[in-house]
Amino acid sequence: MKRKLAVVLATITLLSVGGVVVGRAQVHSGGGPSVDNSAGPKKAEEQFKNIQVLKGIPAEQLVPGMQFITASLGVECQFCHVEGAFEKDDKKTKQTARKMMAMMFAINKENFDGHLNVTCYSCHRGNSKPVGIPTVMAEEPKASAGEAKVVEANKGEGVDAKEANAPTADQLIEKYVQALGGAAATDKITSRVMKGTITFGDRNIPIDIYSKDPDKRISFTHTPDGDSVTAFDGREGWLGFPGRPPREMHGSELDAAGMDADLHFASRLRGMLKETQVQGVEKIGDFDAYLVVGQREGKPPLRLYFDEKSGLLVRLVRYGDTPFGLMPTQIDYADYREAGGVKVPFRWTLARPSGRFTIQVSEVRQNAPVDDAKFAKPAAPPEGQKGPAK
Ligand code: HEC
Ligand code: HEC
Repeated sequence: MKRKLAVVLATITLLSVGGVVVGRAQVHSGGGPSVDNSAGPKKAEEQFKNIQVLKGIPAEQLVPGMQFITASLGVECQFCHVEGAFEKDDKKTKQTARKMMAMMFAINKENFDGHLNVTCYSCHRGNSKPVGIPTVMAEEPKASAGEAKVVEANKGEGVDAKEANAPTADQLIEKYVQALGGAAATDKITSRVMKGTITFGDRNIPIDIYSKDPDKRISFTHTPDGDSVTAFDGREGWLGFPGRPPREMHGSELDAAGMDADLHFASRLRGMLKETQVQGVEKIGDFDAYLVVGQREGKPPLRLYFDEKSGLLVRLVRYGDTPFGLMPTQIDYADYREAGGVKVPFRWTLARPSGRFTIQVSEVRQNAPVDDAKFAKPAAPPEGQKGPAK
């Protein structure tokens, strides 16, 4: 809970510091979000049946926006929606939510130049009913706990003593590339095949992951019902579930899939970031790590945590942009081992507001041959067929 809070707080700080306008949706005089009217992608009201407040947002941003709301209030879709009939307005909560959306856009328009500084989460903090009354001190104050909080609260506010002789972001990124084995070594890797186990809660499922230049990646999670697939072919991405047609990725999902598929992420990082800032040192598990915040052109920022000692990337936080605010994904990398002359994390944990999983790899083969056909998107399976073909 505490970590979640910290991430979201950081998001809000970033938005005001970086001056980023998220989601192309800026508030106009009507109080709702608007986008530029040049042809562009399909709008929400063209794809959905009963859109009153979110007119003008790209249709593909509607569901990510709903996920943001759901995470902010700590509820399920059914809190506002009648199952199987999302367009219906039968629930009072849905009607309240419309007013809340208009209120949120108005607050930001009137006070923050339309930037999404105040979001549903700012007030709701994972509750459907926000708490407006400060809590009393529940136990005797502990000196150490108190101090830790101060550090937390000061985050993003300028430089503390420890940062005075901190390395620059460029130096940290360069050290990371060197720690992996150097750009010459990572450049030689053009494909990678990994086998391991993915763990959700108490379920362990075998997974195979294939990556290949340029920016292709596909993973097969071998569930008892069939394979669940996450794929990116360098341009398009999709998710496949047993017994269902594949679902296309959009917007930020594609951005994230592209990063995961990039075998040269470390050496390309510098070029990807148009502005960087070292924001101090934070504890990540047992490590002290430098936090580098990188702004990208027209995309949400990245937060990169580099182990102070080894220089390796131990955490990456990236964001999906939605009409209501940024949705964080945090990936913690661990168990770096050498494979084919470069270091590779053999374990990583991916966490979102909605859940988390860990992948532990047992075998990594660098430059193993991988057929391009592996990444081809399956045609939508005919009715009744079980799972996408491999
Ligand atoms: C807190 C209330 C709330 C929650 C929770 C919520 N929604 Fe919504 N949803 C709304 C509101 C309000 C609208 C209408 C927006 C408008 O009028 O512009 C909407 C509209 C929709 C629509 C468009 C329906 C149509 O055809 O008009 C879909 C689809 C949708 N939501 C899906 C979801 C999904 C999926 C979830 C769970 C991940 C979810 N919603 C969670 C409040 C909510
Ligand atoms: C500025 C603070 C603030 C923001 C921002 C905000 N809310 Fe609220 N919200 C409240 C308050 C206060 C209540 C009233 C709670 C009560 O009745 O005790 C409320 C109530 C609600 C309720 C009714 C809950 C219930 O149990 O009946 C819904 C639904 C809701 N908000 C959705 C949203 C959504 C969706 C967003 C973002 C688009 C949002 N809120 C943004 C302050 C806020």
